[in-house]
Amino acid sequence: MNYKDALSASGNKGVTRNYPHMPGIDVVGVIVTSNSAKFKVDEKVIVTSYDLGMNTNGGFAEYIKVPADWAVQLPENLSMKEAMIIGTAGLTAGMSVYRLSEMVKPADGTIVVSGASGGVGSLSIAILKKLGYQVAAITGKESETDYLKRLGADSIIARKDFEELDKKPLLKPSFAGAIDTVGGVILENIIKSVLPMGVITCCGNVASPKLDLTVFPFILRGIALIGIDSQNYPMSYREQVWNKLAKEWKTDAFAATCNEVTLNELNEKIKLMLEGKLKGRTVVKIQ
Ligand SMILES: NC(=O)c1ccc[n+]([C@@H]2O[C@H](COP(=O)([O-])OP(=O)(O)OC[C@H]3O[C@@H](n4cnc5c(N)ncnc54)[C@H](OP(=O)(O)O)[C@@H]3O)[C@@H](O)[C@H]2O)c1
Repeated sequence: MNYKDALSASGNKGVTRNYPHMPGIDVVGVIVTSNSAKFKVDEKVIVTSYDLGMNTNGGFAEYIKVPADWAVQLPENLSMKEAMIIGTAGLTAGMSVYRLSEMVKPADGTIVVSGASGGVGSLSIAILKKLGYQVAAITGKESETDYLKRLGADSIIARKDFEELDKKPLLKPSFAGAIDTVGGVILENIIKSVLPMGVITCCGNVASPKLDLTVFPFILRGIALIGIDSQNYPMSYREQVWNKLAKEWKTDAFAATCNEVTLNELNEKIKLMLEGKLKGRTVVKIQ
């Protein structure tokens, strides 16, 4: 289950135009019928992104029908449940870490992750830790300190410390890089706090889609802001990230983020997700 599912399930027309509709942007399953040369019956596949669960019926169901181009073979070394713990959130975390790690190395300093207890945030922390980075987690949930430390966070920052608008164009440089999942003032403050040549990835707008910045962090510190769009990333790139998630980036910490629910329990989880109160990954078991 993802934030987009919660938006679709609550009638958000920016995600789903026509109802009735079946949400669920992440699916893993076994092929029962195929008219594509690429996939055979009984093969296990993952389907995420593109239009699944948005204006095409999605994964909160026993069967789905999708274009073959949307499917990725389930990598060896990954169970179906592990694939769904990862899901779009993990793929987005993987893409964010992939882009960041091209330019920022563990020796460069601490990476800060916002929305830390959410799906993208928690999986980003686990992958960064696995790769040897020092990680600082920004969270609004003080109660999740132990959980975030178990995932791999070396330090915890209270979200309120980053929510205050600071008019200064630059703040004390503190982080070598960042994975931001929330946008708004928190992202503004992160951008102003990144060390020279640092890299920030940006994938979400839970706090706000707006940014009010000057060019100074970019032209005085040479930092880079990289947008992550998991929905439209090319298939070859997507397969590479799935394979890394199944092999060298795989960590036991992923399992610690998992909450398994039935279809009957989804309404309650959707409400919590919309309120920003859900932690980690919610995997739906279809019975
Ligand atoms: N671009 C892409 O390809 C892509 C792909 C997947 C997701 N996304 C987007 O990325 C964002 C995160 O997704 P997710 O699946 O991780 O969502 P999620 O599981 O709902 O987590 C979001 C986290 O953000 C924090 N948060 C909640 N309300 C907030 C607020 N008002 N201000 C600041 N922080 C708040 C909370 O963490 P704390 O309490 O720990 O602070 C929450 O757990 C969403 O906007 C989603 O749409 C984008």
